[in-house]
Amino acid sequence: MRFPDDVPVLTDGPVTLRAHTAADIGPAYETCQDPEMQRWTTIPVPYLQEHAVSFLTEQIPANWADGSSYAWAIQYDGRYAGTIDLRDGRGGVGEVGFAAAPWARGNGVMTRAVKLVVRYAFDRLGWSRVIWRAYVGNWGSRRVAWKAGFRSLVTMPQEGLQRGVRRDEWVASVTPDDDLEPQGHWWDIPVIESNGVRLRPLVPTDAERVMAACNDERTKLWLAGLPSPYGLDDAHGFIEGRISWAADGDGVSWAIADPETDELLGNVSAFDLRNRNDPTIAEIGYWGHPDARGRGVMSAAVGLAIKHAFTPLDDGGLGRRRLVLYAAAPNTASAHVAEVNGFVRTGLARSASARRDGTYEDLISFDLLATEHPDYRKLLENVAD
Ligand SMILES: CC(C)(COP(=O)(O)OP(=O)(O)OC[C@H]1O[C@@H](n2cnc3c(N)ncnc32)[C@H](O)[C@@H]1OP(=O)(O)O)[C@@H](O)C(=O)NCCC(=O)NCCS
Repeated sequence: MRFPDDVPVLTDGPVTLRAHTAADIGPAYETCQDPEMQRWTTIPVPYLQEHAVSFLTEQIPANWADGSSYAWAIQYDGRYAGTIDLRDGRGGVGEVGFAAAPWARGNGVMTRAVKLVVRYAFDRLGWSRVIWRAYVGNWGSRRVAWKAGFRSLVTMPQEGLQRGVRRDEWVASVTPDDDLEPQGHWWDIPVIESNGVRLRPLVPTDAERVMAACNDERTKLWLAGLPSPYGLDDAHGFIEGRISWAADGDGVSWAIADPETDELLGNVSAFDLRNRNDPTIAEIGYWGHPDARGRGVMSAAVGLAIKHAFTPLDDGGLGRRRLVLYAAAPNTASAHVAEVNGFVRTGLARSASARRDGTYEDLISFDLLATEHPDYRKLLENVAD
């Protein structure tokens, strides 16, 4: 195709994709100074004016001409807002790549742009699949891919190559029959503050406190699967993993924090949200930092997590019908937390809780139904009114 004459203009109203012009060189150069651009893409670092000149005036036109890739400038709010391209396409399968100018981010611009080019790939180029890939940890890009309907996400170790260094990659794709809409839940992790505790998302600066809590003898006794000794890398892996839970639809995990200092006091989670047999349940799990035990922190935190789990989906909750919880029989503190929150003992699995020394304890199972929760009854009364 001839550049720029054959470059199709694609638009959905707010976002227009068009051929690059010389006027885009300055804004494109500015965009490439952004640390996030350098961190998550393969652009040269340092990024010079001459890089922008040759990319926009030589490489992009040449790629349109030989069909190796198709790059559009994104126009939003009357300005150049980034670049998006379709590349490869051999055998009818190709990739999408994109970058937004920092000022334009967080307005849904890239999600709109991705949907426009994916439709173009299917309807005009006849592709049978579009692939998205991003270095692991690029949550903004992953969110765009999820919102645009990409699915079947996998993590490919060392699949990416950035300036000579291998990096793990996330890979997902869409096909022509797929809705370009989110698949599955990406759960919010809301900040909830009540009863003297704050639930909030885990953040990397919690790692030291996570490490201390998970090296504590009592934590190690009841959570036999934890690495021992538990290092700072383990703590960072735990925090990243809990963030992934929410994106994968598997669970919501909070830091329990001191409302005054925001310091981490423990962890509470509602997980197993994609249970194959019953996707209306959740399991509740928790551990506390040693210096926060014995003053009702965990009971309060679990109460808040339960309420969120039973809150209907339409009201921003997890829409659960039934919660389950397990505690090793001698772990009376954990059983207490469950029972003060209304959990009912449903059984005892014999010799089912592994200890670190190779022995086993009995495991108590608890459950709690939404219909038993005081807020649920209140909800029903309101409906009756
Ligand atoms: C990734 C990028 C293109 C997103 O562009 P954008 O215009 O902000 O995209 P959108 O507004 O359509 O969607 C971004 C979504 O990601 C979310 N998001 C951003 N950072 C996030 C993070 N760290 N964790 C979770 N979500 C995040 C935004 O809240 C938004 O979701 P929402 O609409 O539900 O609130 C932009 O951040 C960018 O250019 N980054 C640098 C280059 C890059 O990474 N390119 C992709 C390489 S694979």
